Amino acid sequence: MIDNLNKKEDERRVILEVTDVIKQYRQYDAVVTAVNRASFKIYEGEFVAIIGSSGSGKSTLLHICAGLDKPNAGEIAIRGQKITDMSPDELARFRGNFVGMVFQTHNLIPQFTALENILIPTTMCNKPEYKYEENLKKLVATLNIGERLHHLPSELSGGQQQRVAIARALINLPLLVFADEPTGNLDRKNADEVLELLLETKRVIGQTLVMVTHDLSIARRADRILKMDNGVLSPMMPSDLAKWGS
Ligand SMILES: Nc1ncnc2c1ncn2[C@@H]1O[C@H](COP(=O)(O)OP(=O)(O)OP(=O)(O)O)[C@@H](O)[C@H]1O
Ligand SMILES: [Mg+2]
Repeated sequence: MIDNLNKKEDERRVILEVTDVIKQYRQYDAVVTAVNRASFKIYEGEFVAIIGSSGSGKSTLLHICAGLDKPNAGEIAIRGQKITDMSPDELARFRGNFVGMVFQTHNLIPQFTALENILIPTTMCNKPEYKYEENLKKLVATLNIGERLHHLPSELSGGQQQRVAIARALINLPLLVFADEPTGNLDRKNADEVLELLLETKRVIGQTLVMVTHDLSIARRADRILKMDNGVLSPMMPSDLAKWGS
C-alpha cells in the first residue's frame, strides 16, 4: 500500500520545488525572519491553499516563489529550472511564459487603463502563436469588467481593481498561477465566481494554482492546505481547518 502511494507521488510531475528558502528583513535593529527554511513541492495541476495569520510570511513566500523577490538562502525551481539562478531578463521572459501573479494589493499601473494593464503580460511572453483575444473576451465577461476597460485604476472600486488584476494574471494562460488573497475585496457572490473561473482554467489547461486565502470555504476546496505560522510552513489536514478558523 505504502509502495503504491509512493509510486503515485513519484509519477506526478513537480512544477514548483522550494528548497530551504529563508527570507529575512531588517527592521531598524531587529531582523524579521519572514520565511524560515521553507521546503515543499507542488505538482502539476494541483490547487494548493496557503493560510496563516497576518504577518506570518505568506505574501513574502509567494513573491519569492514567483521570482518577484530574492531569498537570502535556498532555491526555487519551476519546471526544473532554477529561477534563483536566472538573470533579470531571463527571469522576466520565463515569468511571462509560465507564471501568473495576482497581488494582494493588485499592483495595477496607475497611468494605464484597465485594458492596458490586462494586456501587459502579452508583451512579455514568447508565444507568437498565442492569440489572446478569445481569452480576453471570456475573462472580461466572467469578471464583469467590460464597462470599465477604458478607465484608470483610480476610477475603479477595490473589487473592480482586483478583478482586473485577476484578468491580467490569467491573460497568457500561464501554467502556474500564484494568487495572493484574490477574493479579499470581493463579496461572496463575486468571490465564488472568481474561484470558479480559476478552477475552470485549471481544469481546461491543467493549470497549477497556489492561493493565499483567509476564506476557509475556499481553502476547503483545495487539494492541499499549507499553513504558515511565524515564517514556518507546515502541511495542514482539512479536518484541522475548522479548529483554525474558530
Ligand atoms: N519589505 C519589507 N520590509 C521589512 N519587513 C517586511 C517587508 N515585507 C514584509 N515584511 C515583514 O515580514 C513579515 C511577513 O510579512 P508578509 O507580508 O509576508 O505577511 P502575510 O502573511 O502576507 O500577512 P497578511 O496576511 O497581513 O498579508 C511581517 O513581519 C512583515 O512586517
Ligand atoms: Mg500578505
